[in-house]
Amino acid sequence: MTSASAPTFPRRILLGVTGGIAAYKAADLVRRLRERGAEVQVILTEGAARFVTPLTFQALSGRPVRVGLWDEAAEAAMGHIELARWADLVLIAPASADFLARLAGGLADDLLATTCLATTAPIAVAPAMNQQMWTAAATQANVQTLRTRGVLVLGPGVGSQACGETGAGRLLEPSEIAARVFASDPSTGSLAGRHVVITAGPTREPIDPVRFLSNRSSGKMGFAVAAAAQAAGARVTLVAGPVSLATPTGVARIDVETAAQMYRAVHAAISDCDVYIGAAAVADYTPGCCADNKIKKTSDTLDLHLEKAADILASVAALERRPFVVGFAAETTNVEAHARAKLERKKLDLIAANEVGAERAFDREDNALLLLWPGGRKELALKSKAELAHEFVAFIADRLAAVAAGV
Ligand code: PMT
Repeated sequence: MTSASAPTFPRRILLGVTGGIAAYKAADLVRRLRERGAEVQVILTEGAARFVTPLTFQALSGRPVRVGLWDEAAEAAMGHIELARWADLVLIAPASADFLARLAGGLADDLLATTCLATTAPIAVAPAMNQQMWTAAATQANVQTLRTRGVLVLGPGVGSQACGETGAGRLLEPSEIAARVFASDPSTGSLAGRHVVITAGPTREPIDPVRFLSNRSSGKMGFAVAAAAQAAGARVTLVAGPVSLATPTGVARIDVETAAQMYRAVHAAISDCDVYIGAAAVADYTPGCCADNKIKKTSDTLDLHLEKAADILASVAALERRPFVVGFAAETTNVEAHARAKLERKKLDLIAANEVGAERAFDREDNALLLLWPGGRKELALKSKAELAHEFVAFIADRLAAVAAGV
């Protein structure tokens, strides 16, 4: 199954401002979005209107600000459904803990929540709240639900907070939010004009019609890298093993099941590819052929005959006209030594090593990576896979430029 949608570059941004002390920073955000050529329509929640005035936002956006769902005059001019259709992007900044919960729960109890439910445009949220509220299990579960639905989560930043505490929960600076929103500009992003092919998730190697060999990969790392590459302006093809994740906005997805299908899908997609990133946990060994019928429990032991699966990453690196090739290394011991050996043996341009185990990397929300390339190394510390993926993609763009410049 293949699904694709065009990369988005927002010209019409519906900016939702929710109730919190960081609401004052949204005024600067309007200015920065407009400087980049976007039309901005502001919706304030009733909570936000206690911190900031509609008049400020009307002056900065040049458009009447919407607050309530029950404003007859405003609904007659541009109703919530028209607002939802008008937007290329719905950006909520700051997004309070309460609003994230209402968005995750699909509520439609005010104008902003109703518009979010009614829109087909991508949604981005920039959370801002007390650090304890951010780390609360309920907030993290809501954020995960939103990410799974393809909502882009920008930040939050880490630092001192208005409440006097220090930690994660600060609204990202308006300049950074604007940069992230417009990073997907196909003419200016760090991977603008590039075609990036990414693999993600596990493969399944059938043993018989009802059983298979597989692994713990959820696809979260690869999908986050695909979203980050798209946000950096690239055209992205994502070859995905069996996972239950939403396709990131603007990414073309090809679903496969086995290592052999993934090999064929990658080679079919790669002819005009600039960067190949192998984040999938592909089978190293496969039964090769699948029994026609369910294997019966007739003896005490069962021998499975496994053959080596073709190495997709090495095969891409061996192409005569090869892209910039980035591998992953999933290691349980001697991470750096094993990863560097893979980098050299498979002739890669870059490898991202992660320590894996039942409690690490696989099917987790966060990860840490050690990047190795010929003559260099860089550590990316533990953080959410979404944030990590942005750093990783920015680094790939830098290495790509360095290699092109012969550095
Ligand atoms: O999906 P998540 O739950 O988010 O977990 C993320 C992850 C741990 C799966 C991811 O970060 C990761 O490490 N992916 C690579 C897993 C893996 O198969 O590593 P490896 O060291 O066995 O393989 C090295 C490289 O060769 C990888 O780039 C792999 O895609 C590639 N490979 C391996 C076998 C094969 N037959 N073909 C390949 O292309």
